Amino acid sequence: MILLIATGWTIYCIVCLLTIWICYKSYPSVVLFSRQWYYLRCLPRLPTHWLWGHLHIIDGSEKMMLHFLNYYATNDIKLSAIWFGPFIAAAHCYRPETIKIVLKERKAHRLYRMIIPWIGTGLLVANDEKWFRSRRLLTPAFHFGVLKPYVQVYNECVQTLIEKWAKLASSTESVEICDSVSLLTLDVILRCAFSYKSDCQDLGKQSPYVTSVCALSRLLVQRLLYIPHQSDFLFYLSPSGREFRRACKIVHDHSDKVVRDRKTVLEEQIKKGEPLQPTGGRKYLDFLDILLTSKDEDGVGLTDEEIRAEVDTFMFEGHDTTAAGIFWTLYCLAKYPDHQEKCREEIRTVLDGRESFEWEDLKSLSYTTMCIKEAMRLYPPVPHYFRDLSEDTIIHGHLIPKGTFVIIGALEVHRQPDVWENPEEYDPLRFLPERSEGRDNFAYMPFSAGPRNCIGQNFALNEERVVIGKILHKFSLQLDDNHVVEMVPQVILRAKYGVKLKFNLLADNCTE
Ligand code: HEM
Repeated sequence: MILLIATGWTIYCIVCLLTIWICYKSYPSVVLFSRQWYYLRCLPRLPTHWLWGHLHIIDGSEKMMLHFLNYYATNDIKLSAIWFGPFIAAAHCYRPETIKIVLKERKAHRLYRMIIPWIGTGLLVANDEKWFRSRRLLTPAFHFGVLKPYVQVYNECVQTLIEKWAKLASSTESVEICDSVSLLTLDVILRCAFSYKSDCQDLGKQSPYVTSVCALSRLLVQRLLYIPHQSDFLFYLSPSGREFRRACKIVHDHSDKVVRDRKTVLEEQIKKGEPLQPTGGRKYLDFLDILLTSKDEDGVGLTDEEIRAEVDTFMFEGHDTTAAGIFWTLYCLAKYPDHQEKCREEIRTVLDGRESFEWEDLKSLSYTTMCIKEAMRLYPPVPHYFRDLSEDTIIHGHLIPKGTFVIIGALEVHRQPDVWENPEEYDPLRFLPERSEGRDNFAYMPFSAGPRNCIGQNFALNEERVVIGKILHKFSLQLDDNHVVEMVPQVILRAKYGVKLKFNLLADNCTE
């Protein structure tokens, strides 16, 4: 019996030490770690298992999330701890007043280090002075003057998808939409970032670059969800780690070549004293043009490596996120045909017989925009993001020590019953100006808030408006009643079994 207990304790200690080593080896300060353990122990929480903490119930499912939320609401818990084993915990923030405090924090979380081999220290993972300088240099790339011509890119790309879906429209079978929407947004970002026409929507993932970008996103999610792979050593020994390295190399070689070639062309233009203009028959300046020419106040621009990092960051941040925004909105509109019809009326009025949207049309799509915003409230494409506290902070009367891992729950704050009336109801009109008055700025944050909010939010919203607008103009959407749609909060909010819709060509489109 004594032997059994001793063995049990030994295994327990080894598991704890391994967990600490895996998660905290970049934080050698034992004092820092012990303080976190001591103070986070005092935070309220859902009952824990003595060994697993909450690990055994964290399965990333919709059911788990509702379980946490119900427990917090029933017990009036405003800030809680989530335990990953017996020693490691995170502060879980899901109230506007709490999020306001932690989003002042500018430091990217240490988990983001796993993306660095792919996107370098681009804006998403940069800290301190580097982040500040990059943010200033990148801001002009999202000026409306740059975004304006992209509307034609959105129109063209969604047309490819519409033609694909039109062939399936007469069938009684429903169509799974998430993968096709993801290829659409990849097509868009490839064209807008560096004018790469990959034809990925028609060819699927045939290009090694496209395959590698998709593989990197998939491998990153797998790595985040598998605790032993949080260790670089174990991850890069595994087949997934080796695949990750190979994909990084392909993506970097491609981006390097694109940056080098474009730089040569732009240098030629500058030598000839010509103003910055699109090259290669393009009608618009892409992000790469802007990045290559932007300079800080000392006249210093970004290095080739920094430019590559930013281009890769746009690939990572601007592709799957926007796809999730689009497919969850299509899902909501299929589920609520009245709202779908109201959007369609608005779209018909705005297009007035035309097939494509112009920049000026976008501001008139107010009902459609409210439907998109409401879909992103119920289904925020980035359901959680993370911070490390850089100093001791008092939140709701609790001391949360420096270095604490903070989980910010956009998904949770968007469903708080005392912030949102009937939070589970899809009600786009809650975004009417008169109903938004007085709402806390931190109650709605699909694009985050504070100094590190999403730099690409206008780009994404414009893309969503055009894509949804053109799809609703062509088809009426219907849910497949036999298909279960269940959200899975991973890095992006996914649908566990995909989203399946039936597409019916609208009468005025059938004769074309
Ligand atoms: C619906 C689409 C999108 C959503 C929901 C979204 C959401 C977010 C969120 C929540 C963050 C904060 C992440 C954090 O603090 O850890 C963020 C940051 C960022 N996003 Fe987006 N994003 C979207 C589209 C885009 C697009 C299209 C681009 C670029 C073309 C982009 C580029 C970035 C960058 C560079 C950052 C880092 C900003 C910084 O740290 O200063 N995003 N995004």
